[in-house]
Amino acid sequence: MTASRVKELRRASRRPALAPAPAGAVSLAMGEPDFPTPPSVTEAAVAALRAGHSHYADQRGLRELRSALASRLPAHPGRNWTADDVVVTHGATAALAAVVFATIGPGDRVVVPEPAYSLYADLVVLAGGIVDFVPLAPDLHWDLDALAEALPGAAMMIFSNPCNPTGIVHSKQELEALGKLLDGSDVLVVSDEAYHRLVYPGHELTSALEIESLRDRTVYVQTFSKTYAMTGWRVGYLTGPREVVDAAAQVHRTHNGSLNTAVQHAALAALELPDATVDAMVDTYRQRRELVVAHLSGVPGLHLIPPEGAFYGFLRYDTGLSSEAVVRELAEREVMVRAGAEYGPSGEGHVRISFAASEDDLWIGLERIVRYFDGMRS
Ligand SMILES: Cc1ncc(COP(=O)(O)O)c(C=O)c1O
Repeated sequence: MTASRVKELRRASRRPALAPAPAGAVSLAMGEPDFPTPPSVTEAAVAALRAGHSHYADQRGLRELRSALASRLPAHPGRNWTADDVVVTHGATAALAAVVFATIGPGDRVVVPEPAYSLYADLVVLAGGIVDFVPLAPDLHWDLDALAEALPGAAMMIFSNPCNPTGIVHSKQELEALGKLLDGSDVLVVSDEAYHRLVYPGHELTSALEIESLRDRTVYVQTFSKTYAMTGWRVGYLTGPREVVDAAAQVHRTHNGSLNTAVQHAALAALELPDATVDAMVDTYRQRRELVVAHLSGVPGLHLIPPEGAFYGFLRYDTGLSSEAVVRELAEREVMVRAGAEYGPSGEGHVRISFAASEDDLWIGLERIVRYFDGMRS
């Protein structure tokens, strides 16, 4: 009864089913803010329901919300973003699915610099495409020579910036170099900027939409999940070349219908939050990032490139054990992290540590991690 594509997905997928942390364990595994959703957002949803906003919404998203999002998109010279350029989706997850299913068919090759967020490869497999993993350079930035070899003839390149799982921010120069490589080709770029507000001092995020050589071939994917601590609300959106946006809108309404109406009113309220609300959360992540860097730097056998954005440290270790075995052994020592191999073949030899966790949990978890690796050496 199972479709062959699903069998293929099960064979290829690196994504584990997620289980809650056992009692006594601290979790540094989750990719979601530990902050509550700001109260005004919740109140807006309640008020919307009370006001009777309990019926189907516009299938591309409430026009009011799409207009508000369009007015906040990175500027695009020569193009005046309007509500018609935006599709509101069930989180970035459904935005990514919509763009992949709208543009990728059997045999189409999709370049995924890896380690990468594991959803990308799964979506490509489910659409019948071919995943072309291109390893990152040792500094976890793009290996432009390897990309230059892989990109000709590809249908798409997809990445996150800031990057899950590496914590790297791909710089303006890197994006410009990518634009140069793609000059004259038809490769569609999907830039998933879910962590755009989480960038640490000394680094700056340039959206792919701001890069002249990329902007007309870029599908921009965004979400309320990380910025506003709204993972459970399921609101994302996309924009890009109009033909792709229209095709993605068609896929999204076929798969999902319209998005919850009251939730879209809540999303509008999130856009009205003062910058200080988000800044305060970002500042807390910054402090936690410093804790992670201080704790793990200089430990023999461990190597951490200080995270530049997002809320992940991608820790390399020298023990030779598989990352799945390390994750299992750390879980036995009551600290949960994610196996690097989940994010692509080059993720082996790494674990991903999320610092979207309380400072107390971080202290305890980092102590347990360091003690475990120390024990492996003695
Ligand atoms: C890079 C990246 N993109 C997209 C998502 C999914 O976001 P959403 O909750 O909006 O579906 C995640 C979630 O972890 C992510 O890390």
